[in-house]
Amino acid sequence: MSAVVRFLGGFKTRPKSTCGPLKVKNYLIHDYIDRYAVTACHNGPCVRGQRLFIRPIESGDADDVRRFFAVNAKAGEPPALGLIGKLVGDLVAVLSMEITGDAVRIDDVFVARELRRKRIGRFMVDELAKLARKIDRDRIVVEPPSDTREFFRRIGFEEAELPMMVRRLL
Ligand SMILES: CC(C)(COP(=O)(O)OP(=O)(O)OC[C@H]1O[C@@H](n2cnc3c(N)ncnc32)[C@H](O)[C@@H]1OP(=O)(O)O)[C@@H](O)C(=O)NCCC(=O)NCCS
Repeated sequence: MSAVVRFLGGFKTRPKSTCGPLKVKNYLIHDYIDRYAVTACHNGPCVRGQRLFIRPIESGDADDVRRFFAVNAKAGEPPALGLIGKLVGDLVAVLSMEITGDAVRIDDVFVARELRRKRIGRFMVDELAKLARKIDRDRIVVEPPSDTREFFRRIGFEEAELPMMVRRLL
């Protein structure tokens, strides 16, 4: 476990990008603006033209995570192991996980309510996939609630080992 903790401590995502505010006309519909924002940023995951900064959770994040959960009416304590996503310095997503002998298991992934369907959940799990490969795990597993199985299907998970879903990493 200590090797894993050392690894996570040293796990660095790329620095905040220089993606600035987008110059998009106000008459464009919001959906289009969001999609444009994502495709306009080639320097990592972007949401509304801002870089989503993802990194492993640290003990010093606990208060921030508690506040984020409270604002989003989510029960539970900050996870000991996981990732957080920040947008312009604000916490917008938390992923909690366990590392097992042959896989990485997602225990929960939670995105701020007002920012859902903007690919943040996808980016969080993609980042987890990179991490899993680095620690020689070739699959991510999750046992999702029924109303989020479609989300996991769309981001590459298969209905395998029911009720678990599995994303195999190449
Ligand atoms: C599930 C959750 C993490 C998804 O995050 P998100 O940022 O809204 O998802 P994304 O925008 O990255 O969606 C990726 C794809 O899944 C689809 N999707 C997202 N949520 C979905 C849902 N609830 N049902 C069906 N499809 C969904 C999106 O339309 C998108 O599809 P596309 O890429 O083909 O256009 C978020 O809704 C959430 O925090 N839910 C509450 C907590 C929860 O139940 N977590 C799962 C526990 S393991």
